Amino acid sequence: MKVLVIGGGGREHAIVWKLSQSKKISKIYCAPGNAGIEELAECVNIKATDIEALVDFAYNEQINFTIVGMDDPLMLGVVDKFEEKGLKIFGPNKKAALIEGSKAFAKELMKKYNIPTANYEVFTDYKAAIEYANNQKLPIVVKADGLALGKGVIICNTYKEAEEAIYEIMENKKFGEAGNKIVIEEFLTGHEVSVLSFCDGDTIIPMVSAQDHKRALDNDKGLNTGGMGTFSPSRIYTKEINDYCMEKIFKPTLKAMKEEGRPFTGILFFGLMITEDGVKVLEYNARFGDPEAQVVLPRLKGDLLEILEACVDKRLHEVKVEWEDNAAVCVILASGGYPLSYKKGYPIKGLDKFKDSKDIIVFHAGTAKKEDEIVTNGGRVLGVTGIAKTLDEAIKIAYKGVEDINFEKMHYRRDIGIK
Ligand code: AMP
Ligand code: GLY
Repeated sequence: MKVLVIGGGGREHAIVWKLSQSKKISKIYCAPGNAGIEELAECVNIKATDIEALVDFAYNEQINFTIVGMDDPLMLGVVDKFEEKGLKIFGPNKKAALIEGSKAFAKELMKKYNIPTANYEVFTDYKAAIEYANNQKLPIVVKADGLALGKGVIICNTYKEAEEAIYEIMENKKFGEAGNKIVIEEFLTGHEVSVLSFCDGDTIIPMVSAQDHKRALDNDKGLNTGGMGTFSPSRIYTKEINDYCMEKIFKPTLKAMKEEGRPFTGILFFGLMITEDGVKVLEYNARFGDPEAQVVLPRLKGDLLEILEACVDKRLHEVKVEWEDNAAVCVILASGGYPLSYKKGYPIKGLDKFKDSKDIIVFHAGTAKKEDEIVTNGGRVLGVTGIAKTLDEAIKIAYKGVEDINFEKMHYRRDIGIK
């Protein structure tokens, strides 16, 4: 089979890496890919958001199966467009992807179907939003409704901060159309856990749990990022909690989407907060997490393609998804300055060491090839995943890998996996 993966980050490298072990696949293409993916797949120079060009490519190359890694093409309807042409593709269609594309939709869905989440209100009127915010307990959370590159959530510790956040999103249109509507919600305290799941519209199979580190600096200091490191499994996400989530959150969400006429096929990612008051949903994503995929996929036994095909063919209930009894830790190596401005084009040293390693995988994110060198080409540059029997060993292995890699102004957190 010929398979196409859409995207070019660390998550897509992890997907391509796992697919490269499948006996069913003769060739993998990736659009646009990166310098690491290039070792395993043919990278095609098409942007992940250029839906027409992707459809043409898949049609002309007779691609048998396409997997969407990123959120933007999903919201643009890439799945609908492929299906119109009779092309097989894994991911939610535009209607189902709304569960990530609109926070207001996700919150209303949870309220309607009694899925536990933070209390909230939705606003399209600026004055009403300000008035509501000023009458809530602090801190409060202000969220742009639409996609905002992971920056549309603002935690406000004072009423002045809340007023500013609402102004920036609704009046100043900091995130464009994404800010036409906002969600204002109660601030939750607890521990965040990411649980990704395979879905075929009717059946949902959760994957092993993971935890992300969103802030740029050690001890959860500094600015929010796309994720500075992950580990799997979570130490706090017990079997009991998983059983609870299965009955109260996972299955009800899938059922709710079906009842709303938006059956969800693809990866449904539950961002959960384990609070003293029980588990609550912080957010849904309609795709693999990045860098969650870099610790979850290395733990998956068997052929990823077979599971994804079963989802598209609506026979996931026939599939047994199995996991290694081990642990994985991914440390992100970022460009100095990320998540604000940073320079690109620095040569990366030390990558050759890991080609045959069994317990360290270096996933590329923002990298590019420049003549014979691999250079930095983004904020998050690499993800070094260590795999071992226990989390403590996996932490040591990942950081041992990190020591061997170097580029100018490289920045990483030293406390990944500790919490
Ligand atoms: P989201 O994009 O909704 O996941 O929000 C990004 C991050 O903001 C989450 O991963 C949390 O760390 C934080 N966050 C979002 N909503 C809340 C909330 N209601 N209470 C506390 N933290 C939140
Ligand atoms: N790591 C969080 C996300 O992918 O949204």
